Amino acid sequence: MLRVLVCVSGGGTNLQAIIDRVADGSIGNTEIVRVISNNPGAYALERAKEAGIEGICVSPKNYENRQAFHKAFLEAVDAAKPDLIVLAGFLVVIPEEMIAKYRGRIINIHPSLIPSFCGTGYYGLKVHEKALERGVKVTGATVHYVDEGTDTGPIILQKAVSVEEGDTPEILQRRVMEQAEWVILPKAIDMIAREKMK
Ligand code: GAR
Repeated sequence: MLRVLVCVSGGGTNLQAIIDRVADGSIGNTEIVRVISNNPGAYALERAKEAGIEGICVSPKNYENRQAFHKAFLEAVDAAKPDLIVLAGFLVVIPEEMIAKYRGRIINIHPSLIPSFCGTGYYGLKVHEKALERGVKVTGATVHYVDEGTDTGPIILQKAVSVEEGDTPEILQRRVMEQAEWVILPKAIDMIAREKMK
């Protein structure tokens, strides 16, 4: 079994897609062992609870400095003994120590076709605002391995999505989620689980 840890900050629709695809068998040989949120109010924690998955919050607000937060976060990660760490809308910069320790075992979903609309400051709705501002006709999502940079690691999967006349950032975000993110993130996990089985 591939032991998967999912890190979240918000609504958790990508987490839900993973939960659903594990439940229906489209992601094989995989167990979601823990969900970690930096945000105590994240609806993703409700989704974890609903699915019977342990969900915990490690909030920077509860630590006196960044170093103490990173230490607590890494302890919560290590305790889950993960084979794979999935950043599913996780808005915390991953400490370098953790990247080194789990190199090649951390993946992230980003809501654009990297290298467009990515890097520092490009997250969530902002990505879609920028895509609409630039007037692109095609956008999409990317699953990639996490390295020390922001959205710079090796690409695993990408899927393109059309921009339509009259799109708002919210409408485009929803289409990118439905047509790309919720498809390619579970698919990438399944690919990694299959690779482990070999
Ligand atoms: C998703 O669109 C994800 O791609 C994005 O945050 C959203 C989280 O939604 N991630 C980033 O922008 C990372 N740079 P969710 O909580 O409903 O899965």
